[in-house]
Amino acid sequence: MRSCFSLQSLLPLLWLSIPLTAISRSTLGRPGKSQPLIIDTFQDFDQNDLGFWHGTGEDLETEHEPGVMHLFPSDPDQNFHTQLNSQGCFSLSPWANQFLHVVFEGNREFTVSLNEHNTECNAARLPFPGTADSVQSSRYLLETAQPEKKGVGTHDAKSGSSSTQSMPEPGPQIDDLSQVHDTQHQAHGALRTGRLELYIPLSHFHVNLDRLISVSLNGFYTDEPIALHRIEIVPTVPAPSDENGNFTLPKKLPTGTLVLRCKRPNSFAFGIDDGQPQFAQEVMQILDDEKVRATFFVVASGLRDETTNFTEFYREMLSKGHQVALHSNTHPKLEKLQTLDEIDDEIIQSVETLRDELQIASRYFRPPFGTVGARLRQELAKYINNPTIVNWSVDVEDWLWANSDTPERQLDAFYRGVARGGNLAVMHYLHPSTVTYLRPFIHYVKNQGLQIMRVDQCLEDPTSPPV
Ligand SMILES: *[C@@H]1O[C@H](CO)[C@@H](O)[C@H](O)[C@H]1NC(C)=O
Ligand SMILES: *[C@@H]1O[C@H](CO)[C@@H](O)[C@H](O)[C@H]1NC(C)=O
Ligand SMILES: *[C@@H]1O[C@H](CO)[C@@H](O)[C@H](O)[C@H]1NC(C)=O
Ligand SMILES: [Zn+2]
Repeated sequence: MRSCFSLQSLLPLLWLSIPLTAISRSTLGRPGKSQPLIIDTFQDFDQNDLGFWHGTGEDLETEHEPGVMHLFPSDPDQNFHTQLNSQGCFSLSPWANQFLHVVFEGNREFTVSLNEHNTECNAARLPFPGTADSVQSSRYLLETAQPEKKGVGTHDAKSGSSSTQSMPEPGPQIDDLSQVHDTQHQAHGALRTGRLELYIPLSHFHVNLDRLISVSLNGFYTDEPIALHRIEIVPTVPAPSDENGNFTLPKKLPTGTLVLRCKRPNSFAFGIDDGQPQFAQEVMQILDDEKVRATFFVVASGLRDETTNFTEFYREMLSKGHQVALHSNTHPKLEKLQTLDEIDDEIIQSVETLRDELQIASRYFRPPFGTVGARLRQELAKYINNPTIVNWSVDVEDWLWANSDTPERQLDAFYRGVARGGNLAVMHYLHPSTVTYLRPFIHYVKNQGLQIMRVDQCLEDPTSPPV
């Protein structure tokens, strides 16, 4: 399993110096709220209109020209972030009842996230970002029927303050762009041209608006390219009209809660995912010896396979007070699945298998590969009441080192994560070396004065057993 998050790409760049900060201050210095807050018009390759970093994670291929950022996605973990502040937290609270407005062309199916910073507002601490809430772009799409030919990205600052009755700026002149694109990127699909806009109420993002770090796009499940023209906060939404297909805002769909860290003071949790049956008893023994409880995220198909003995094993683990929770049916990247039916099937079978094999219900779900997008979150919330989606802030990196010449780097990865403030781990018992390191992991955490417990306990879930 691969932990898909490239931290370097999100760290604020050091070139961000005083003059840029001055620019951003003058922009932010007038939260007039009737004026749009322009975040990004893609004038520069590596910074946005606020003077802060924008760029990609997970090797998302891009191409920049002044005013346009082309994205060539191939995986839902890939992401493009534009930061609201590279040196700390940013508060969008003054704009709380306004709208995130995105102007783009091409792929309509992706996830838009508002990313909350960690509690320290420090990009060197983990997790980073702290959490996020997400919406599915296509639900918020405004498409103008007859795009007129006009310069791309020339939607000027004044238009956002005009009345709700006014139409958005006419569509961009896209023919030239697509030619540039076609000749330079024949390896990718062609850009589907035509101006598209998203209007997303900030109230649809259930994050702490006082503590934000960035707006991002991710969750790409087709490889159709996107051309980004503008990201801003605007006070109004266009009134429904014939030209915009009678655009109306959709309702917020529940998306559960995404957690990457324990909440309870001085707590630490091991979230242990898929394993090999032959190491199961050894893992149980170590946890018994160390008198700690953990959370196991279990793949349903493995549980149903009698040759694994997993049903017997997890029954015993439950009786010993460990938590057993959901980890899909067959372990795909769920956000990469093309249809909601496929996502639903993974969720439903996962829930039913835990019920049938172990007689338990869990609302804790760990996404395979840590891959999370708006569709997965929405579908989880459809079938599970108030799901908690459990990512992590400490990665043992067994997927990277266990089969290498330097398996001990799993220890380094673990210590590094804890030193940076991580307190919710991901690991597997797929390799002998990882199982061998479980005891040193536990000792290290105990020596830090932290108390090891189940994920539900470390999140202070009132229905969890007492610590
Ligand atoms: C979940 O964690 C993985 C691994 O760190 C990361 O790739 C992904 O971006 C995280 N998702 C969110 C929404 O934080
Ligand atoms: C918009 O709504 C009006 C009034 O209900 C209707 O006549 C018109 O056909 C609709 N236009 C579109 C593009 O849906
Ligand atoms: C299956 O798991 C149970 C419960 O942990 C254990 O007692 C038993 O020895 C296991 N059987 C085999 C064949 O591993
Ligand atoms: Zn897994």
